[in-house]
Amino acid sequence: MKNTNNEFEIRGLNHVAMVCKDMDRTVDFYTNVLGMELVKTIDLPGGVGQHFFFSMGGRECFAFFWFTEAEERQPGISNPRANIDPQVVFNDPKAITSSHGSMNHFAFDVAPDKIEEYRQKLIDKGVTVSEIMHHDTSITQAAEEVTEEVWVSSIYFQDPDGIVLEFAAWQREFSPSMGDRTDYVPAKADDRDKYRKMGEKFAAQMAELETA
Ligand SMILES: [Fe+2]
Repeated sequence: MKNTNNEFEIRGLNHVAMVCKDMDRTVDFYTNVLGMELVKTIDLPGGVGQHFFFSMGGRECFAFFWFTEAEERQPGISNPRANIDPQVVFNDPKAITSSHGSMNHFAFDVAPDKIEEYRQKLIDKGVTVSEIMHHDTSITQAAEEVTEEVWVSSIYFQDPDGIVLEFAAWQREFSPSMGDRTDYVPAKADDRDKYRKMGEKFAAQMAELETA
């Protein structure tokens, strides 16, 4: 994607900082399961805790805090209650929500022709992984396989703290001719009821599709 920002020269991700319960467990998952290199470890001054950095390739890092005084994870608040999976998304949409100000999930970029292989590799390492989701512009926003309209293909899984991670592969450039839009009116805080009604309508449409 080309840089269209005239205000700030933002050059991609530098790092994102997550919070874990057990740094030893986190290091094991990110190095041994995901194969990421631990490139920097810090013991914070004043007994505050630790700050560790894992390489995402290039100069981008996935970082963790371990805080002496952090609160416990609050599923459904601090991060999603369940992994993002087609079954979950359609049957219990609330399970993928998290609170205002939280980080919902983090997507690592991978090549489209690797998604299937990587899914199997994660499963072989004992990780529970979603079905492959091919996101398109249809009513369900999901296709069974890669079609012209699919813009990104994804798999989702969780780290030991329940952080939802995604391997995401761009399938094409964004294009209005493929149904990509930039004109949805941004929701306001008090639009919740409107969206709840849209949810009911969607459920009815889906039920109709199933019986058709
Ligand atoms: Fe995502």
